[in-house]
Amino acid sequence: MTGVGFVGFGGYVPPTEVTNADLERIVDTTDEWIVRRTGIRTRRVLAEGETILDMAVQAARRALDDARVAASEIDDIRVGVNTWMRFPSLATQLQEALGAPRAPAADVAAGCAGFVYAVEQAFHRILVEKARYGRDTVALVVGVDGLSHITDWTDRQTCVLLGDGAGAVVLRHVAKGGILATHTHADGRYGDVLWSDFVVRGQANGSPKTFTHETAGPRSYLHMDGKKVFSVAIETMVSDVRSVIEKHNEASGERIGIEDIDYLYPHQANLRIVENVAKRLGVGLEKVYTNGVVRYGNTSTASIPLGYWDNRERYRTGSDRLEIDVAFGAGFASGAILRRS
Ligand code: ACO
Repeated sequence: MTGVGFVGFGGYVPPTEVTNADLERIVDTTDEWIVRRTGIRTRRVLAEGETILDMAVQAARRALDDARVAASEIDDIRVGVNTWMRFPSLATQLQEALGAPRAPAADVAAGCAGFVYAVEQAFHRILVEKARYGRDTVALVVGVDGLSHITDWTDRQTCVLLGDGAGAVVLRHVAKGGILATHTHADGRYGDVLWSDFVVRGQANGSPKTFTHETAGPRSYLHMDGKKVFSVAIETMVSDVRSVIEKHNEASGERIGIEDIDYLYPHQANLRIVENVAKRLGVGLEKVYTNGVVRYGNTSTASIPLGYWDNRERYRTGSDRLEIDVAFGAGFASGAILRRS
């Protein structure tokens, strides 16, 4: 077994739903504007007393059940997260909550691309452990964010976009298929286009007040230049998809083209971004995951693994499909994964 692939999927969103009609009551917006510009209809938010750790635990347990792997068998935990603004890391707290004592655990902060970065790191470690030490490694990778903690509920440009959620996968050696290539990229010149400072107040011990103005001070909110994010996101996601295919082709001698891709999981930032990426790549929307952004809004690092969880039935049959994940977010950090699943 030389390949490394996903063998289990988990997802979780909190029960509290915020509709566009709810937002119409707190900021000057309309359902029509939000749907036309973003495609988003509802999003979920953490209620008082619910934490980012709770979401990570739920998603991770579902992924472990799906993979039929016990927590005690996990050798590596990586958590893509941007909103766990305290220490110790969320990954170590997840390790403790799951009961996975032998797994080293660390968070990965790479904006909305955190999950893709974390998968790449876990993938590389599994390969090195096998090649260098002859060991089989089982990794748990989680993408989770509580963006409602850093949402300014008086800012109509951002509050309509964001939601909370978690997704998880289990990675290990597989008999066929698996990850073919990964590609990651960052461009720190855009640091002031999408940013927030640390939130400390109101987030003591991971028990925040949410959906209120009191959670954080103004600098702690997510700030962005929406138009700039929009255009660079499209350009970069298209280029990352092409780069990951090219990287695979150069290494393997295969000639995979974009027309061979059966399905695309773009980060669910905004339906208009997703549609533009698909159009620029020449991929029909029927081959593109879009449900997440419509129902959950932008869940940052969770959006891609939540998509797998949504589509989990299709992976039960052992389908032989070429898929690409592509994410883009603050930094700007971005990345793509080419997989056969
Ligand atoms: N409801 C009603 N009107 C609004 C709203 C709202 N929620 N937000 C802005 N407007 C108004 C603006 O004030 C402006 O009014 P004006 O013409 O009178 O000045 C008008 O709508 C147009 O505003 P723009 O900001 O120019 O609208 P735009 O077409 O750029 O759409 C949007 C804004 C949806 C935020 C877009 O820029 C976008 O999607 N950007 C990407 C942002 C993103 O996805 N960020 C997520 C984090 S990053 C990531 O995950 C990749």
